[in-house]
Amino acid sequence: MGRLAYYLGPIYPLKIKKKITFVPVNRGHELPSNPFAHMQEMILIADFGSQTTQLIGRRLRDLNTYCEVVPYNKIPQDLTGIRGIILSGSPFSVYDQKAFRTDLSRLRGRLPLLGICYGAQSLVYQAGGKVEPSAAREYGASNLEQVSATDPLLQGVRPGSTMWMSHGDTITELPQGFRVIASTGSIANAAFRIEGEETWGVQFHPEAHHSQDGFQLLDNFVQLCGIKGNWAPEAFIENTVQELRREIGDQEVILALSGGVDSSVAAVLLHRAVGKQLHCILVDHGLMRLNEADEVMASYRKLGLNVRCINAAPRYFAELQGVTDPETKRKIIGRLFIEIFEEAARELGPSVRFLGQGTIYPDVIESVNITGTVIKSHHNVGGLPERMNLQLVEPLRHLFKDEVRRVGEALGMEHKMLYRHPFPGPGLGIRVLGEVTPQKVAILQQADALYIDLLRRENLYEKVWQAGAILLPIRSVGVMGDERTYDYTVALRAVSSVDAMSADWVPLPYEFLAKISNEIINKVKGVNRVCYDISSKPPATIEWE
Ligand code: XMP
Repeated sequence: MGRLAYYLGPIYPLKIKKKITFVPVNRGHELPSNPFAHMQEMILIADFGSQTTQLIGRRLRDLNTYCEVVPYNKIPQDLTGIRGIILSGSPFSVYDQKAFRTDLSRLRGRLPLLGICYGAQSLVYQAGGKVEPSAAREYGASNLEQVSATDPLLQGVRPGSTMWMSHGDTITELPQGFRVIASTGSIANAAFRIEGEETWGVQFHPEAHHSQDGFQLLDNFVQLCGIKGNWAPEAFIENTVQELRREIGDQEVILALSGGVDSSVAAVLLHRAVGKQLHCILVDHGLMRLNEADEVMASYRKLGLNVRCINAAPRYFAELQGVTDPETKRKIIGRLFIEIFEEAARELGPSVRFLGQGTIYPDVIESVNITGTVIKSHHNVGGLPERMNLQLVEPLRHLFKDEVRRVGEALGMEHKMLYRHPFPGPGLGIRVLGEVTPQKVAILQQADALYIDLLRRENLYEKVWQAGAILLPIRSVGVMGDERTYDYTVALRAVSSVDAMSADWVPLPYEFLAKISNEIINKVKGVNRVCYDISSKPPATIEWE
């Protein structure tokens, strides 16, 4: 999901044109001044383009260790504040013309260094060793053998334990001073250490879930970096609040709230830093869930936020009248949001210099992906910051989703707000199929509220990743009492997912389905039929429009 989409949360349509950003590859080594100098203890992850780079970061965070991913050619010259560096894998071979390269000799010996897969092979290759295509390509699980009992990186890593491999090359000859510390049945140099230095290389992926003792190995590396592992929400909040105060000074900030997790936590954090200088806007497009605008406004007020709710429902319904095409509906809803938000900002006057956003780390990492083909259009969606001449402030940009929730908890936010299901930007506008009218939205709101409420009461809400009701644009015949009905059908959807890229339908218990079908048909006037959506994504999508 794009960064602005996150921030604008349920408001801005996702299906925006993707901007392709080409990051210069391997042309010189731009070494920016060190942005980490003030850090107490952190590990830098140099990204050579591997798909698992983000996972390395995830694992270190699980060890309560602060880390940041930087492109391979953005490692600062001055390493103050950095306690260790991990070199990631890569889609390239070290001998490829186009391979991402940086001079590793300038890092070696200065601090603990761990090369993973391509990172390990680069250490060898640059020191004059040999890396060649493997006779047998190694993908999947392999068992470690001859694990050094004395090497500190491998303490607690058991001989015979499974490590995940994913490479077509292998190290066939180690340079002088490089010592093997583990092998597998087919790889002699599965792990090595450079003598006299705290530099290690492993050809497997300790960050992969299937690497049995991989977490132990990373934990050992963290210890070797002298890190105590005290990254915790409280420390994050304290540091961030100070930084925000420094950055914002006595200027004003505007932020669009949606009721979603990220924008809400970002707002509470910003509020803690600058109080009433933060102006939050909730655009109520009339397409939110039943009573949702009132409920979230009450929560925000309880949290002390300076928040204004703009009731824009009449404007949205007027523009949506007669429109049936899903993309056109999305565009109208997105455009109106921008217009209304801009109007609200203008009313606040020129003292507003910053635009707060709930951007989170997976979005940021994606946006710095170095393989060149990427990327999402992110924070300049709609050109909002540029158009309004505002500077972005993104206090959550280094956090993963579950960390955002932990920070929210430490900020005293309600569990219900932090563990809400995702909800699409255009709201019920894309769950009322076909033309959106206030009457149809009202029918859907009631059905949806009964559904979500029963999921909560039956303890199913948090077992499901996302759930919602959809109002189909067809009517069918039914019989109620002695009367014939000709009413709408509601479809129910509940999916499991990790990142919304793929999803599966959840087999809700039959008893639950029977109960909710009865409730909806009996209580919601205008509905005489309920269906359950049993499609996975792909080939379907989570939303119907
Ligand atoms: P699809 O329907 O593409 O949805 O499988 C994937 C996830 O994204 C949510 N979604 C949106 N979120 N703005 C958003 O902020 C949007 O326009 C939008 N469209 C879909 C959807 O609810 C699901 O979680």
